[in-house]
Amino acid sequence: MSHEDKGKNFYLEMDGAMSYPIVWVNGKIVGGWPYGYNSFQLDLTPYMNVGDNQVAIRLDNPNESSRWYPGGGIYRDVWLITVASTHVGQWGTFITSRDVSARSATLDLAVEVQNNGDTKSKIDVTTDVHEYDAKTGQIGAKVAAFPQYTVLVAAGKTASHTTTTAVKKPLLWGPPPFQTPNLYMAVTKLHSGSQVIDTFETRFGIRTFAYEPNKGLIVNGEHIPIRGTNQHHDIGALGAAYNHRAQQRHLDILQSFGSNAIRMSHNPPAPGLMDLADEMGFLVMDEIFDCWVLGKTTNDFHLIFPDWHEPDLRAFIRRDRNHPSIFVWSVGNEVGEQQTGDDGAKVAQELVDIAHDMDPTRPVTASMNSAHPNQPFPVVMDVLSLNYQGQGIRDTPNYSQLGGIGTPPAYPAFHGNFSRKMLESSESASALSSRGTFIFPVLEQGDSAPVNDTSGGNSTTFQVSAYELYSADYGSSADKEFRSLDQNPYVAGEFVWTGWDYLGEPTPYNVRSSYSGIVDLAGFPKERFYIYQSRWQPDLRMAHILPHWTWPDRAGKVTPVHVFSSGDEAELFVNGKSQGRQTKEPLTYRFRWDKVVYHPGELHVVTYKDGKVWAKDTVQTAGEPARLRLTADRSKITADGLDLSYLSVEVLDHQGRFVPQATNAITFSVSGAGQLVATDNGDPSDYVSFPSPKRHAYSGRALAIVKGEKGQPGKVVVEASADGLASSKVTLHTIS
Ligand code: GAL
Repeated sequence: MSHEDKGKNFYLEMDGAMSYPIVWVNGKIVGGWPYGYNSFQLDLTPYMNVGDNQVAIRLDNPNESSRWYPGGGIYRDVWLITVASTHVGQWGTFITSRDVSARSATLDLAVEVQNNGDTKSKIDVTTDVHEYDAKTGQIGAKVAAFPQYTVLVAAGKTASHTTTTAVKKPLLWGPPPFQTPNLYMAVTKLHSGSQVIDTFETRFGIRTFAYEPNKGLIVNGEHIPIRGTNQHHDIGALGAAYNHRAQQRHLDILQSFGSNAIRMSHNPPAPGLMDLADEMGFLVMDEIFDCWVLGKTTNDFHLIFPDWHEPDLRAFIRRDRNHPSIFVWSVGNEVGEQQTGDDGAKVAQELVDIAHDMDPTRPVTASMNSAHPNQPFPVVMDVLSLNYQGQGIRDTPNYSQLGGIGTPPAYPAFHGNFSRKMLESSESASALSSRGTFIFPVLEQGDSAPVNDTSGGNSTTFQVSAYELYSADYGSSADKEFRSLDQNPYVAGEFVWTGWDYLGEPTPYNVRSSYSGIVDLAGFPKERFYIYQSRWQPDLRMAHILPHWTWPDRAGKVTPVHVFSSGDEAELFVNGKSQGRQTKEPLTYRFRWDKVVYHPGELHVVTYKDGKVWAKDTVQTAGEPARLRLTADRSKITADGLDLSYLSVEVLDHQGRFVPQATNAITFSVSGAGQLVATDNGDPSDYVSFPSPKRHAYSGRALAIVKGEKGQPGKVVVEASADGLASSKVTLHTIS
């Protein structure tokens, strides 16, 4: 601290630290915040000296603290904030819009001014509203101003005032493809006499949400079906440590199959992820807890719930409430309190009341996998969020041999009992698969079955078949989930478990990562990607054949062929011979030719929509691996030590055809102004450490993640090589 900074205030703000962080300054304890996912701020001012200061942070990460991989350490950004002793409080603005029309929108802004000084402060508060360009991060033209006012804030006190203004012809925030996620920036200034002593920026959006029990979510007057996925906080091979580009790539890939919504399962997300959701137009179900008083693992949040649920919930909402993307707060996931009658409902009510107190503009929910419509728990919720039970659990013949609770589809009963509440599926599917791995024989009866060694699974290789017909015992394939939504069109939509594979919780086999992703841990599309694309992007001309057609040991054997397409008819050709033209029957979501016999050559499909050719796909039998092909998602990255290029490598044969079962050992080398950060291949059972430069291809592919050296712009050469194969090189440029 310099002499000039004497009299100022110093805050340490942590976006998240796993877990139980305790902070000392110059050997004196300042405080802490146990929940490793929440953001918090500590006032360091009383402990600071002129000259050097030492900040020490201790973390404790007990075993059994979570049902998934929580990460460990200081895994999100940390900020040291220096402000005048009178300043805008932590997350101290709240901006909401009402009376929104094409002509104007009314904005209400509450500003909290905090005076930590020894004397009364007289402050003039001004706030201007500007357009904001999220692509460049530039604040644009001023479009409105809140009326200026003066506050007198006593020493050690906080004063909050609300003012109102209007924006003419507002540019609304809304999800693509039919709406645009426009943002604004409110710039608040605290003036003491002629001096500006604090400037505080609040990014926000103007939009309306309506929650229609018979229709679903209405955004700015347009019905938007929720096409969502669940998102754990890890970013694959990079672990839990937040990286903005990695997170952006996650969302890019979700958007590429038509997803428009994210559920933050089951904890406060990184602030950067919330920013990305706003910028890219994702609808967000923002969630805070996986358990309340009743725990799920020995050392999870239940240990501190009595003392911390209120501060945590208040901090969570206060931090995130200006994000236009959030349409609902979720205070819990599958909590045990669903089943403890009035006692459980009382806990739920307390949390819902706190959420309403912090934000009167949004509804509150908690995800229910077992609460029945006639129990007290759902009565407390503004929006009803069902996990799996909406579509039915173990209720179809293929699941009938399983133990465990069976539930008929619960959407009708919930809708019937709560005719004024919007209903959504907060977890659907839990379909399981390993990218590019197909296991025979293939299910013929029905389109959804639990995984076991005779049904889509192999407990020796730890893989699950990519025919995309198999699921967790309590889950279903995508087909069943789509059917249940089509049969109950009042349901607002769904959040699939999950968009991406994630670290930990690997059902059905005990490996490193999950099988439930629509894309694998490396971000490579599984076959399932295309069934979602066919439904969520109905206007996109697409057809996708599965399986691959390189089966040296299957000549003469029945090898079913399925096709996902946004078309309504399809004709399959095997080596030029038609296998028949099919029409997609109502409530079915794939074309299938179950009796195809494998002979090497070519599969070709032509799909039709309304009788006209719509989209085609071709798959050819590949030869032996001959070469590698390396491709970068971005060849120019910033030389800041954080920005990343993702390089995919594919194994090809002599003719340049993709070799779908290749497992060649690949070595990545990086030279020049960059470094290899991690590698992956999306194989849930691969235990090679993520930073390793050596990685086997899995189902023909592998991934390398490269960053530039900080402050050293230049060329980076990345090479992928493997014994006996022609190698491949890509040159990246890092720029300042
Ligand atoms: C759900 C749970 C999720 C995850 C999922 C696995 O019941 O809410 O957190 O455990 O099952 O399929």
